[in-house]
Amino acid sequence: MNGKPQQYEPINAAFPHLLHGGDYNPDQWIKTPEIWDEDMRLMKLAGCNAMSVGIFSWSSLEPEEGRFEFNWLDTIMDKLAAQGAKAILATPSGARPAWMSRAYPEVLRVEADRHRNLHGLRHNHCYTSPVYREKTERINRLLADRYKDHPSLLVWHISNEFGGECHCDLCQDAFRNWLRSRYGHDIEALNLAWWTGFWSHRFNGFDQIESPAPHGENAVHGHNLDWKRFVTFQTTEFMKNEMKPLRELTPNVPITTNLMGTYTGLDYWKMAPELDLVSWDNYPSWHCGGMKTWELAADISFVHDLTRSLKGGKPFMLMESTPSIVNWQPVNKLKRPGMHRLSSLQAVAHGSDTVQYFQWRKSRGASEKLHGAVVDHVGHEHTRVFRDVAEVGEDLRKLAPIGGSTVRPDVALIYDWENRWAIDDAQALRNGPGQKGYEQACKAHYRAFWKLGVPVDVINEDCDFAGYKLVVAPMLYMLRPGVAERLTAFVEAGGTLVTGYFSGYVDESDLCFLGGVPGPLRKVTGIWAEEIDSLHDNDENGIRFAADNDLKLAGTYKAHTYCELIHAETARIAATYASDFYAGRPAVTVNAYGTGEAWYVAARSEFAFLRDFYAALTGKMRLLRALDADLPEGVTAVLRTNGKDRFVFLMNFSEARQAVRMPGEAEEMLSGKRMQGEVALEPYDVKVLHYRQEDCRQEDCRQKD
Ligand code: GLA
Ligand code: ZN
Repeated sequence: MNGKPQQYEPINAAFPHLLHGGDYNPDQWIKTPEIWDEDMRLMKLAGCNAMSVGIFSWSSLEPEEGRFEFNWLDTIMDKLAAQGAKAILATPSGARPAWMSRAYPEVLRVEADRHRNLHGLRHNHCYTSPVYREKTERINRLLADRYKDHPSLLVWHISNEFGGECHCDLCQDAFRNWLRSRYGHDIEALNLAWWTGFWSHRFNGFDQIESPAPHGENAVHGHNLDWKRFVTFQTTEFMKNEMKPLRELTPNVPITTNLMGTYTGLDYWKMAPELDLVSWDNYPSWHCGGMKTWELAADISFVHDLTRSLKGGKPFMLMESTPSIVNWQPVNKLKRPGMHRLSSLQAVAHGSDTVQYFQWRKSRGASEKLHGAVVDHVGHEHTRVFRDVAEVGEDLRKLAPIGGSTVRPDVALIYDWENRWAIDDAQALRNGPGQKGYEQACKAHYRAFWKLGVPVDVINEDCDFAGYKLVVAPMLYMLRPGVAERLTAFVEAGGTLVTGYFSGYVDESDLCFLGGVPGPLRKVTGIWAEEIDSLHDNDENGIRFAADNDLKLAGTYKAHTYCELIHAETARIAATYASDFYAGRPAVTVNAYGTGEAWYVAARSEFAFLRDFYAALTGKMRLLRALDADLPEGVTAVLRTNGKDRFVFLMNFSEARQAVRMPGEAEEMLSGKRMQGEVALEPYDVKVLHYRQEDCRQEDCRQKD
């Protein structure tokens, strides 16, 4: 267990409940306070106990520079308190009043093409501007001071969905200073790291450097990488500036900001340590037809697991999800009956202690007036969506004992932002947006575990590997200093590593390793990758298992997209390519190293390969599963545990009735019934099995130590 807790405190010790609620914009209804009273009545009916208030309220809080109006917010905070509900109080920096942009144009963001935006929209400030920092610090201080002792203040919600970049002169200076400190004021160190001898790009001084631009420099990969690192750094600094007065005045109120899953613009691993808890906004396109429901569900589970892993397993917040539809997808399809409940509880299954929505009430005007909401324009509770939401409210009440519990998986999967930036930037393999497919590769590996109900942490290269039995690292192209050494030590000490094609190419500056791919992983994997073949959509090869391979797999699986041509140096060959000029050469190898082993999968494959490969490894390694049961297609089992009780979420992400034979006996928490034997799952059904310690007599539900 590695000393990590199994049970955490509630999000806020003063309120030990699972949270339910959402983005609430009472400031849009200041002139109709009767709506506020109706909101309160409806919140109670829907079982909502925590509302995100003030996210875009700046122009209501400070209608003119220096003139503040908090009365409306006082009333809302009081009303929430009066009914025992809480506020997730937002700082308003996600959007700003027009007076500010007019008085201080430096707060307006400058795009990569060096055009300064006009006032409008949101999420478009300069994160360096001293004026914007001063203004946000001031309003946050006033908010914290005013509400520090208010009984409804539960959590701080910093800004909204930080994202994007600013290329203004202030940001250019800040970037140059950041580079000076990264390279110890030594321009030659930067020239080397960026390999500026290429195309005569050598710099004489830091003052010659600008951010990447579509009409300027964008082909120096080290430069692009450092710019992305700077954007994360500067956004985090901006966020920390927002947090300062909150930390000072409300040291016991936890702080979060709503992240966006695998949003590529910011390295969330750098932001998470500054936050007390992480939260994210989840908007899957259910029923889209392009993929099976379970495939999309597994992709969403991946992001939930990533979000939980950002804080080492601490429960997170589902900060936004839609109660019905969004308004920005190409086709805004309604969630089919059952899906709202299923997808809400899916978040809880993976460690969320909340189900929050965007939005509580539909606005009357502007771009989100037709976005789904708990309360429709019709204004009452007699709607399908409201009933769905109220049902989740009731479920969360029943699931209260789960709050604070987590999971300690045997398996970690590396999904690394900097690695992704480097892969996406590489001119190689298959070019074009999304063509490299790093995220897809990670999700494909993840799906195999999802099908087996094997818990997974989604970590980055810098995380501690000790405590896991299996580390899966698809396309580990970039190896920052020490990563290969730590992976090697992990295997040496008995761990199992699975990696494969396009790994071990470059260092943290995106400079290629000399001496053969996979660079510093060559010893532990026992292979040398000499070349990599990119296949067209209509090309394929095969991965043919050798007789008596370690996993007892047989037959041939389809290989596509990338086939690396590798040499087994010290590794044993488990499978070979089936065709083309490299037929018979190794496609899958395993290298015994220390007391562990490293697998190398040299080609991208059809899912059936990953499914069977990981099923065999799971069996061989006796990896922790949520439930020792056969799971039919579309059904998964997800575990939360506090070290004593095991809460197993059985979820049917398919359009068919399914059945699972559960081991032992347990209480189903949503119905309150005891269950054993065959559990029937209707389409989109979810059951939460509560195995108490005394129910776990069997070997297969024994608590792992
Ligand atoms: C984002 C934002 C919300 C809202 C929703 C709509 O997640 O944070 O303010 O615009 O999208 O789906
Ligand atoms: Zn700027």
